[in-house]
Amino acid sequence: MKAPKENGFRCVVTGGCGFIGSNFISLFLAEYPLAKVLNLDSMTYAAHPQTARHLDSLAPERYQHVRGDIADPQLGELLSRFKPDAVVNFAAETHVDKSILDPSAFVQTNVAGVQNLLTLARKQGNVRFLQVSTDEVYGSLNPDDPTFTESSPLTPSSPYAAAKASGDLFALAAHHTFGQDVVITRCTNNFGPYQYPEKLIPLVIANALEDKPIPIYGDGQQVRDWLHVVDHCRAIALVLATGKSGEVYNVSASEEHANLNIVRGILERVGKPESLIRYVKDRPGHDRRYGLSAAKIRHTLGWSPKLSFEEGLDQTVEWYLQNSGWWRSLRDEAYAAYYQANYAPKVQEQEKPL
Ligand code: TYD
Repeated sequence: MKAPKENGFRCVVTGGCGFIGSNFISLFLAEYPLAKVLNLDSMTYAAHPQTARHLDSLAPERYQHVRGDIADPQLGELLSRFKPDAVVNFAAETHVDKSILDPSAFVQTNVAGVQNLLTLARKQGNVRFLQVSTDEVYGSLNPDDPTFTESSPLTPSSPYAAAKASGDLFALAAHHTFGQDVVITRCTNNFGPYQYPEKLIPLVIANALEDKPIPIYGDGQQVRDWLHVVDHCRAIALVLATGKSGEVYNVSASEEHANLNIVRGILERVGKPESLIRYVKDRPGHDRRYGLSAAKIRHTLGWSPKLSFEEGLDQTVEWYLQNSGWWRSLRDEAYAAYYQANYAPKVQEQEKPL
């Protein structure tokens, strides 16, 4: 593959209006001033038009956004016109709670979408395919277990994680069967700017700022391994440029924290009382602990995180304070749509013919 620093490197980024994808595009355009980016995003609920406008303003001569779905077989025409050197796939349904309510969209995007995109990328010839994945494919750890490595078995627990694991397997199968240039990154829980406030950290910040109750699932002692999104995006750019084809790279800053401690840390930062905390019914099948070893990417590619967890959380809280318009509008629109779809009385059902 042509190196991203070479003149005219062309990269398709899918899901680029979402949380990690938008942070990646900002970083990539800044890091590689000669590269071009085509952002393919279908603008589902987690993508905000303001995020899209922010990206539009960064490097208009080297960036374009096309609305589209990775599961669409017609995408081949777009790829043929753009002639990418690489495809970085962020497009995914990502919210575990939503996957428990209805997994169908997760199969469509995270499995069928990945399979379609792999096939279309392969038809373009020499294109590197980077699949952005998650530590959740490895399942849950007990408190004293060693952290997962790239050779740990895949034992996903939630419908979300099962779909992501399946997408990863299709990507690896494409490498083994067709010799396709595929690399996979698996990250821990991300946090940072532009994260949709359905995930723990932005939800807690947003609720605290509005003096709304903060739901803690179960006893709040579940452990997640936290990674700042910019450190994650630096790892993805590095794997894209220097990772070995057919390999998986775990990305973790080894920052394991219990949920309750995260919530307390945020409340302290925004000066709100712990009385906002509400212990609610646990998530079904809730994974107890995630923890990932990043020894491989550290030792073979030389990546390490730059931001400490505390600095990252300070910056994140500050970003949500400064950008309340962004998350308030996203939350209001999405909440209204979600309520309408799931809870509002359905006239058709009420008026069944007798
Ligand atoms: P989440 O951000 O949904 O990420 P994931 O499920 O992929 O790890 O949740 C992080 C942790 O926080 C998880 O253990 C579930 C818990 N959680 C709560 O306790 N309350 C909440 O309102 C949310 C959204 C999550």
